[in-house]
Amino acid sequence: MPYQPRAPHIHLAVRIKGKKELITQCYIQGHELNANDMVYKAIKDTKQRDSVTLGFDP
Ligand SMILES: [Fe+2]
Repeated sequence: MPYQPRAPHIHLAVRIKGKKELITQCYIQGHELNANDMVYKAIKDTKQRDSVTLGFDP
């Protein structure tokens, strides 16, 4: 569920053998609120930003 002022996003935590290895968030490709999301905008590297931006195509 979206909440302001964040763009819609999904939190992910990856565990290997019970140990947290990665915590991140994924964003919806092309969503209009991405441009105003402070966390999303803080990812300055284009490749890193693209890696957490997903199409969610049916
Ligand atoms: Fe959140």
